[in-house]
Amino acid sequence: MKLTDLRGILQYIPQFREKTFIIAVDGVIVTDENFANILLDVAVLRSLNIRVVLVHGASEQIRALAGKHNVRASNLDGTGVTDAPTLQVAIDAANRLTHEILEGLSANDLRAACTNSIIAHPLGIIYGVDQLFTGKVERVDADFLQSMLNQGIVPVVPPLGFDGDGKTYRVNSDSIALAVAEALKATKLIFITGQDGLRYNNELIRQMLVGDLQKLVQSMSGAFAPEMLSKAHHAAAACAAGVQRVHIINGREDEGLLAEVFSNEGIGTLIYANEYEQIRLAKKKDIRAIQMLTKKAVETEELVRRTRADIEKSLGDYYIFEIDKNPVACVALHVYPALQMGELASLYVDPSHENQGIGRKLINFIENRARETGLTELIALSTQTFTYFQSKGGFLEGTPDDLPPGRREKYDQSGRNSKVLVKKLT
Ligand SMILES: CC(C)(COP(=O)(O)OP(=O)(O)OC[C@H]1O[C@@H](n2cnc3c(N)ncnc32)[C@H](O)[C@@H]1OP(=O)(O)O)[C@@H](O)C(=O)NCCC(=O)NCCS
Repeated sequence: MKLTDLRGILQYIPQFREKTFIIAVDGVIVTDENFANILLDVAVLRSLNIRVVLVHGASEQIRALAGKHNVRASNLDGTGVTDAPTLQVAIDAANRLTHEILEGLSANDLRAACTNSIIAHPLGIIYGVDQLFTGKVERVDADFLQSMLNQGIVPVVPPLGFDGDGKTYRVNSDSIALAVAEALKATKLIFITGQDGLRYNNELIRQMLVGDLQKLVQSMSGAFAPEMLSKAHHAAAACAAGVQRVHIINGREDEGLLAEVFSNEGIGTLIYANEYEQIRLAKKKDIRAIQMLTKKAVETEELVRRTRADIEKSLGDYYIFEIDKNPVACVALHVYPALQMGELASLYVDPSHENQGIGRKLINFIENRARETGLTELIALSTQTFTYFQSKGGFLEGTPDDLPPGRREKYDQSGRNSKVLVKKLT
């Protein structure tokens, strides 16, 4: 592991300590060879005092076991009719899978227990068809789960529900994960699936606000891959119920779980309830983040190289755009007070957050700051982004003569031949 990875992880620790994550694993992933790595990642989360509940599905195993016993499964995922023979197969398959998970957690020195914390009742008769042993979550025994979590135990929740008469029902694991996340007021719900994330018209969704997902699920559900529609539906419902972040990731990717939790980019789809974003003045502790953020642009000559000392000297000019307390973009406003001019500089948006309007927000912000400071003109220098400043920022192309004298000297010395962009502030 690189030192930067470790630093990246450390910044999240205060935010996640003692918070609850619900990890919902599809059955197909439990028997995948990468599952051992997922459990290792769970052990890392536990070592950081994150409370983890593991919910699992069993469709694939029900299919396989039914085939083995020559049973015609009436339904696999707990959303259709579950007849008596299918229920028996589901109980066998789910218990076997729970056992495998408990074994894996033991191998990582984690205390874990299978629970009967899902109180269910029959789904009933839908459009005239009796759903038989398919159940619906009536209530989650949150006290029971919390008491386990308080003792450092990882509760493992199978896709089964129990009623007060001792009857068992087959319950869809996505709906169990949603109910558990809601009942435990989880910070995150992470669906670990066999797909890269949610695809809409075959395009992978990287990040989406819950309201936008709800609209798509309601009006354009056909554009989602059928096997992922349930994830889309439950992700939207979880965010609407107060879970701040829902992730949908591919369980076959090594270190995928940690990458998703501990990085800005993530590997799959993130659905968020509300975006906590702000633009704030940079502090001394941000210098490193500014350097790290702009590193790539400096290498490709998009931005001029600035040393730590350069940034520190004009730190009061720098602003950070952060999401969930993570810097994802920066910009600076250097002021030439005698000329009532300002230079917009060091605009950089991390590639993982490009094309979400952050660049424009930062340009607007700098314009407003400039106006508040009594400036009448903004300039910007750019080698590769001048059309962006023109089309999205309303700048016009100027000439080096538009630069303040001292700045002009530096410009000539740099040999970068940047285009000069000008915007009059009215
Ligand atoms: C250029 C940059 C600031 C844009 O930030 P962003 O947050 O992705 O931009 P926004 O979301 O506000 O705008 C996206 C729009 O700008 C367009 N755009 C992005 N980069 C562009 C470029 N180099 N030239 C022209 N247009 C560009 C996109 O195609 C998109 O267009 P659309 O809205 O019509 O689809 C960002 O890509 C970046 O940091 N680049 C590298 C550093 C750099 O060159 N900085 C400027 C020097 S001061």
